[in-house]
Amino acid sequence: MPALVTKALWRTAPLLLLAGLTSLARAQAAPAVSVIPYPASVTVDAGVRYTFGPAPTIALSAPANAELRALGDLAAGILRDELGGHPRVVSTPASSARSDAVALILAPADSGGPESYRLAVTRRGVTITAPRTAGLFYGLQTLRALVEPKLPATSAERRASNATLQGMHIADAPRFPYRGMHLDVGRHFAPVPFVKRYIDLMARYKLNTFHWHLTEDQGWRIEIKKYPRLTEVGGCRKETQLGRFRSNPYVGDSIRYCGFYTQDQIRDVVAYAKDRHITVLPEIEMPGHSVAALTAYPELACKPGPYEVRTTWGVDENILCPKEETFTFIENVLTEVMALFPSQYIHIGGDEAPKTVWQASQIAQDVIKRENLKDEHELQSYFIRRVEKFLNAHGRRIIGWDEILEGGLAPNATVMSWRGINGGIAAARANHDVVMTPTSNTYLDYNQGDPRFESIYMGARLPLMTVYAYEPIPDSLTAEQGKHVLGTQGQLWTEYMQTTRDMEYMAFPREMAIAEIAWSPKAARSWDSFGRRLLPRLLALDRLGVNYRFPGVESGLEKNQVVAGDTVTVTLATPIPEAEIRYTLDGSEPTITSTKYTGPLHLTIPADGSVSVVARAFLDEHHASPSRAATFRRATTTSTR
Ligand code: ACM
Repeated sequence: MPALVTKALWRTAPLLLLAGLTSLARAQAAPAVSVIPYPASVTVDAGVRYTFGPAPTIALSAPANAELRALGDLAAGILRDELGGHPRVVSTPASSARSDAVALILAPADSGGPESYRLAVTRRGVTITAPRTAGLFYGLQTLRALVEPKLPATSAERRASNATLQGMHIADAPRFPYRGMHLDVGRHFAPVPFVKRYIDLMARYKLNTFHWHLTEDQGWRIEIKKYPRLTEVGGCRKETQLGRFRSNPYVGDSIRYCGFYTQDQIRDVVAYAKDRHITVLPEIEMPGHSVAALTAYPELACKPGPYEVRTTWGVDENILCPKEETFTFIENVLTEVMALFPSQYIHIGGDEAPKTVWQASQIAQDVIKRENLKDEHELQSYFIRRVEKFLNAHGRRIIGWDEILEGGLAPNATVMSWRGINGGIAAARANHDVVMTPTSNTYLDYNQGDPRFESIYMGARLPLMTVYAYEPIPDSLTAEQGKHVLGTQGQLWTEYMQTTRDMEYMAFPREMAIAEIAWSPKAARSWDSFGRRLLPRLLALDRLGVNYRFPGVESGLEKNQVVAGDTVTVTLATPIPEAEIRYTLDGSEPTITSTKYTGPLHLTIPADGSVSVVARAFLDEHHASPSRAATFRRATTTSTR
């Protein structure tokens, strides 16, 4: 359909359209600063410049406690990494009367919010002021982006091109208090060093919640001292299914797959995240996605078992049985979880719990009768309410996937709306807080390009552009209801991500789009501007060895299209202006020497066939996107009858 529209327009008013597009492109002003997420307010002081010297000083406001000194070290590390030289943290307090390359000033009386900061570049240096250390930390992430190179560069070139900053005043604070990334370590395990790297990368984009999905049908990944079999037995599966979910016949890889975190490791990760102003939100799934737990302790099931840690993906009907023994188990597990995780919220899962086993179980039916419940959905509500009561009594709150709405929401629960946005709308209207995590825009396990050229993906397509287009506050909420939207989060479910490199490929750069949605004011968001700020961020990921996906042709090529008439006009676009699009018309994958795209392609479709366009974006020989392809056919006019 888009091809038809484009074609019609080109036929009727090609010159007009061309002129329109050109002026539109010019109208999109370059962003004032190359920062992701874009700050709430930026004012440039034209004519003012500051250049870092070879031994820049970093001054801390007094009294410099350990947290401030760590921020000083962070500032020194950023300058050393990006500009080289020998930055020093000086003990004399930051003073407005002196020149310091970077002054970090804690100003508790500052009126901004708890995560706000102000950053000024003047002729005398860079001053970052914030009411709390979180703001100073975010200000330093902005400084990092300001000094990161805009093009691939050697370290000498980097220093030369990035040591000079233009004068500016930034006043910044997040739009949403909840800015998350999720990681499923149940399907595929992520070792501690990777988890820390994941947290480090989140911090760059001012994300503040790491949702650690720790238990699954395919593996229980958190040591619980009282129940050692959870990790001894539930931490391993005998193998993993090869190929896609429901591949028939089943073929396993015959490789035992194990992994879990000790409590010491968890404490270490939680402390590491705290230093980066990131809260770790642990998820302990119940009553579904619990086959690993049932394998370790079959007495928690309604049926005798035995059970086996799953080797395939999908939803399992075997769920925790709502008996007293199970609640004792959950309370004991959560007692250890609360001791490890200081977060206000504990995620209790609640999703994808089929009710077939409860329907057939006398134990479950007896609970329904005893508690005067209507059905198994109300039984799940009863289950979740009991757990909520326990956690509330210990000063914690629950958050769960939107199925916890079915059968009635627990009184103080917060909802993660994943099956679209309706769960979030219903929860907000009922005065419950929500985190918007719809599959349509935030499931980063979904395919980000053309499935023919992507090896890892689940389900539907979710290109960078669609993530970026997401607005977390649904239109149908009133302003008051909208305040219940705490924020949003990217989901990384790892069924098809066997390695941590795969996880990086799926997370980046889409995580940056999530971060901008969660942080930047709605009015500051612009896809064009985001694309213009992307390259320096990707080059920074190069230096860290992150296996990101280089963005390609995000629009203009939709698989197979039928066209009225014998010609088609194909307009291609890629978000990164520094990149070139190269294409072929013979079905082969483009290389860096293929024909360069310079404007809309006017193609003639042979009477008896089709024309295929395959396109990729290239920055240089090291930076190429995956291909996208479409085949255009003429609509047949002859009747097939
Ligand atoms: C989910 O994706 N099952 C929350």
